[in-house]
Amino acid sequence: MKVVIGNNEKISALIAEEFIKQVNEKPNCVLGLATGTSPLKVYANLVQACKDGRVSFKDVKTFNLDEYIGLEGTHNQSYRYFMNDNLFNHIDINKENTHVLLGVGDYLAYANNYDNLIKQAGGIDLQILGIGSDGHIAFNEPGTPFDSLTHVAELAESTIVDNSRLFNDISEVPTKAVTMGLRSIMNAKKIVLIATGKNKARAIFNLLKGPKTEEVPCSILQDHPDCTIYVDEDAYSLAK
Ligand code: GLP
Repeated sequence: MKVVIGNNEKISALIAEEFIKQVNEKPNCVLGLATGTSPLKVYANLVQACKDGRVSFKDVKTFNLDEYIGLEGTHNQSYRYFMNDNLFNHIDINKENTHVLLGVGDYLAYANNYDNLIKQAGGIDLQILGIGSDGHIAFNEPGTPFDSLTHVAELAESTIVDNSRLFNDISEVPTKAVTMGLRSIMNAKKIVLIATGKNKARAIFNLLKGPKTEEVPCSILQDHPDCTIYVDEDAYSLAK
């Protein structure tokens, strides 16, 4: 794994350039996308680059990592809403080519077919990841099998607490989600992970210096042949 250190501004710009390069080299590529606060500046950079005519997403397909069970795509905390609001509504992508797991209706059938859909699209060329303070990636919490595909997951208590900052009340945070599995994520050809802030320092230490164990879901990335970790000084502080 490569490590790149810089402030949020800098690492977000560098990751955005990776995306722009990927799309310009292969205009019909498949992108794996994440939600959360961490990738927000990356998406803002991509919106600007598209407006500036530096990149076009018109033939790109996207697959998102996860979705809360129980939230409609129109709910302002659903990941479908997040993606439309922060990226898809502002770039020239065809919404039909954007895939986000369903949180309502027949979400199980859609989840069970998700890895097939990714495969049929040719596999993910470039995947962006955030990381949870407990080392989760997507919604793969500690204890998730390394060979997992897309599945239903229970959120860890610490994740519910972390994510409650975005809801009116902690009781509104869904306790379950549908998520790409660790194997689904590892199938991506290239991975970039972004982490900033002190509350990610333990997870980044475990990712970079800890043993590979299912108790630390992100540690599976140690086995990926093309994975770069972008961190700020605070997130890197324990792993230095
Ligand atoms: C959620 C998402 C993850 C994300 C994590 C970190 O739990 N399912 O994909 O990486 O939050 O979020 P943030 O970037 O806001 O710290």
